[in-house]
Amino acid sequence: MCGIVGYVGNRDCADVLVDGLSKLEYRGYDSAGIAVFEKEKIVVEKSKGKLNDLVEKMLQGKKPHGHCGIGHTRWATHGEPSDINSHPHGNKRVTIVHNGIIENYKPIKEFLISQGYGFESETDTETVAKLLDYYYDGDPVQTIAHMIDEVQGSYALGIMFRDFPDRIYAVRKDSPLIIGVGENENFIASDVPAILKYTRDYYLLEQNEIAAITADAVVICDNHNRLVEKEVLTADWDIDAAEKGGYEHFMLKEINEQPTAIRTTIAPRIQNGMPYLEESGITGEMLKAFRRIYIVACGTAMHAGLVGKYVIEKLARVEVTVDIASEFRYRNPLITKEDLVILISQSGETADTHAALKLAKERGAATLSIVNVKGSTIARESDYVIYTHAGPEISVASTKAYSVQLSIMYLLAFELAYVKEAITEQRCRELTEALVSIPDNLKEVLEMKERCQFIASRLVNSDSLLYIGRGLDYALSMEGSLKLKEISYIHSESYAAGELKHGTISLVTQDMPVIAVATQSDLMDKTISNVVEVKSRGAKVTMICSEDLDVDKNVANHLVKLPKIDDLLMPLLAAVPMQYIAYYTAVLKGCNVDQPRNLAKSVTVE
Ligand code: AGP
Ligand code: GLU
Repeated sequence: MCGIVGYVGNRDCADVLVDGLSKLEYRGYDSAGIAVFEKEKIVVEKSKGKLNDLVEKMLQGKKPHGHCGIGHTRWATHGEPSDINSHPHGNKRVTIVHNGIIENYKPIKEFLISQGYGFESETDTETVAKLLDYYYDGDPVQTIAHMIDEVQGSYALGIMFRDFPDRIYAVRKDSPLIIGVGENENFIASDVPAILKYTRDYYLLEQNEIAAITADAVVICDNHNRLVEKEVLTADWDIDAAEKGGYEHFMLKEINEQPTAIRTTIAPRIQNGMPYLEESGITGEMLKAFRRIYIVACGTAMHAGLVGKYVIEKLARVEVTVDIASEFRYRNPLITKEDLVILISQSGETADTHAALKLAKERGAATLSIVNVKGSTIARESDYVIYTHAGPEISVASTKAYSVQLSIMYLLAFELAYVKEAITEQRCRELTEALVSIPDNLKEVLEMKERCQFIASRLVNSDSLLYIGRGLDYALSMEGSLKLKEISYIHSESYAAGELKHGTISLVTQDMPVIAVATQSDLMDKTISNVVEVKSRGAKVTMICSEDLDVDKNVANHLVKLPKIDDLLMPLLAAVPMQYIAYYTAVLKGCNVDQPRNLAKSVTVE
């Protein structure tokens, strides 16, 4: 969460900073600010609210003019969103922007106050700025190294020292930061989309490496002042992938990108019609050797893990435990060296998932991450990584990342079931082929947007609704429910259909919307009974099922019929109407679809 951009070059710095920050808006923020060198003077402009508020302020004549500076969108952790708490922070000599949390800021602040420093804001960040000023001895790298020794917590920092008006400095620990490398211009940024317009080349800054960035050089050293040689990486995302490309919202674009995302993700992992994960160092034999599998993740990624559990247990007969990362890390889990811990994360930066990874490693378990953002912390720190190739997911609500995470879960399940001889080669081939056909099936489902729009129009005035399903459909409906509440702000709950009568059915009153997911043939009759139960109590039921279901059309008020494919793979298709329903409901309610309130794309704090 929050965005950092820095620039040194010949362009108008304020423009580049605002443009870069706009590409990071998806990360969520509540205020914005920039600092630019006007000759030798650091000029700061900042404002609570959206980037437009900052731009408005600058249009009133306060735009700093220069070619070197840093910018920030803040997602407040310490101190309310306000002009004063907005970044940059510091004084005339040292000015910084910060992403993360300084855990020991209180004692540092007390110490600095005892040394005569005054504080304007309530942020933890300002203590870092003042600490840098306190240590400053004319050598920025040395000063930053001193600061690193003192502060605990997470940080990505962009730093300006008044005495060096041709450069910016950067350092990071547990919060992401990249350095964009251009021609006679260089950048820092929290994420690649901020620099794509100018360059595709970038360095990944490792933990506690310190970078000095001028227009024509990037010098990186470790915190003992030893030079570090780095490989330049090249972003393979194109600029269109990070822009809306004609769609009204990123979410709609990303829903529609699912066929391509799945195809690109699975293609390298299938050989001769069979799953092939060896490019990630994973063999069937290795998977077979584990005693137990844990899947740990947050939010949508955790929901992908739940589908994974059903599929792995059903096909491979291996026990799988799915944990919410923030629970896993504090419940002293029974993991051992014989276990495999799978971490799923779109961003690869989610703080709780990262902490779960660290815990799994401490306990000696093997760790495998399924991650979308290349070179992200979780990807780099796990023993094995399978990258999903969804391209940048900008909308806060995760859609295509979910589908590609599911696709990898399927391949792992097929591979494991096959090596364990729980399924025949023939069945493994059939399933793999069905997975390969998903992008084509999905195209058909993506055509159903008008149907979903109509259903959304029936939900839009509700205060609350229920999603119900059994087995895989239950796992899937959790994601449908999260999607809807996250962006349309309508309260919804997902319930195992058979559990309703143990309490929740008392909530069902006249006209309450219920969305029943019923794609699994073996559970169909049972789910239909539950649908009848709620409908006879006045619920307005939408049923998402497969086209071969011979259901009396009066069973539900609305039907969404999906192409018939192998039951096991139905979640990949059924996810789409749920995403559409959430999307159109949010649009009809006039919500900010891509940036729902209170949420950030990448949750890098606990
Ligand atoms: C999904 O729509 C969410 N915004 C959220 O639940 C997300 O999936 C979760 O925060 C995990 O993020 P990650 O995949 O980047 O780790
Ligand atoms: N902890 C800092 C603050 O509250 C930085 C938050 C962020 O990452 O935006 O200002």
